[in-house]
Amino acid sequence: MRPTFDSGGFLDPSFWQAGAPRRLPIGGPMAGGSRRSDSPIFEALRRYGDAGDRAIRGPAPRPEEGGHDRQQGFRSAGEQWRADDGFLRQRMVRSITRRSDGTFVLPVNLAYASHAGASHWVKASQDPDYVLREVELELVEAFFAQLRTPIGEIREFGPGDGYKAAKIIERLDQPTLKYTGFDVNAALLSEAKKTLYGMKIARPGSELQLAFDDSLDLEDPFLIDVASRPLAGAGVTVGMLLGQTLGNPDSRGRTTMLANIEARLPLDSQFLLGAALVPQEHDAMDKTLAGYRAKDYRRHILAAIEHLGLIEAGRLEVKWEPEQHNVVGYFEFDRTASIPGTDLRFEEGDRVQVFYSHRFTEAELAELLERTGFGDVRIARSQTFPYALASARVTGSPPERGES
Ligand SMILES: C[S@@+](CC[C@H](N)C(=O)[O-])C[C@H]1O[C@@H](n2cnc3c(N)ncnc32)[C@H](O)[C@@H]1O
Repeated sequence: MRPTFDSGGFLDPSFWQAGAPRRLPIGGPMAGGSRRSDSPIFEALRRYGDAGDRAIRGPAPRPEEGGHDRQQGFRSAGEQWRADDGFLRQRMVRSITRRSDGTFVLPVNLAYASHAGASHWVKASQDPDYVLREVELELVEAFFAQLRTPIGEIREFGPGDGYKAAKIIERLDQPTLKYTGFDVNAALLSEAKKTLYGMKIARPGSELQLAFDDSLDLEDPFLIDVASRPLAGAGVTVGMLLGQTLGNPDSRGRTTMLANIEARLPLDSQFLLGAALVPQEHDAMDKTLAGYRAKDYRRHILAAIEHLGLIEAGRLEVKWEPEQHNVVGYFEFDRTASIPGTDLRFEEGDRVQVFYSHRFTEAELAELLERTGFGDVRIARSQTFPYALASARVTGSPPERGES
């Protein structure tokens, strides 16, 4: 996901060296069952968004009324609860699993869950060296440019800070449009709201309808069956999963993610999937790994570890696993540590997988889409970067649910 950061020599030992007591049994989740470039214009839009949302929802509560930061005014009670420290800690602890080789695993989506993790990601994605954002946007804009029908709705899954959606909506310049953003991370979704409400206010003549849902965990197989497929409205619906988000879950999670999305798109709608490809050039992966040394990005990767109070107890190492086509980040303990308030304990030498990014082949992308209910798959490849945008149509053929 972060292929072209300059290494930049930023290494800050006090942070990376940063850094209680039951051992997780090997192989199972802690809780049973399904776990439950930047342009000044963009910044100005987001400031607008702040003001606009206050106008819509009323003023932010003052600190003495329970507010703890300036984003509080953005959050509904449900959002606030999902972004709450205690809830997050519980979600993180319950999500830790242990593989048969003894490695602990934290799902990558938790790195976006805390306000700190979300804001480190936003900063990292604005780094001018992070070319993936503009490379992908170019491919997406080319897709929209060749569509002959007006767009009725954009349904975006995992919109991040809403930057790409805002650029696409601005470029489409339609008088009416609906946009719905889904995410499991309320903290990051509030950034997308800020961006898109800003866009709405900046376009007073247009009817931009905005909706957001922070309750959808795309990796939860239970949510596939409870989804109700929306009916097609006027104009085509376009679903989007951008920014190499599909590379972050394991193979079963990727299938679940696509099946969850397919179930939430009208028949015959279009779906856009942005994914990083296995690099062809000999030294491309060295360059990619150099990108993972960017300070904000490492802080983002380690945000859950920090939230769990473990950051002082080890260090991050990011590796390329060539056989599996995965970039994997491990937090390795250099001392004994436990998660405060729990009896979960880690020993020196233990490691937690905190980051995972699978690189795809084009054939793999097509096969995965076809297996999860999409057809007419087309793949546009970037000329400058190992990245592709796949477009596909929702066919309604029964997807395989959660299997790989
Ligand atoms: C890599 S970022 C991409 C953001 C944006 N699409 C972009 O291209 O810049 C991943 C996004 O997907 C969301 N996400 C990750 N895993 C998710 C899951 N299991 N369910 C719902 N959203 C998820 C994250 O919170 C974040 O907004």
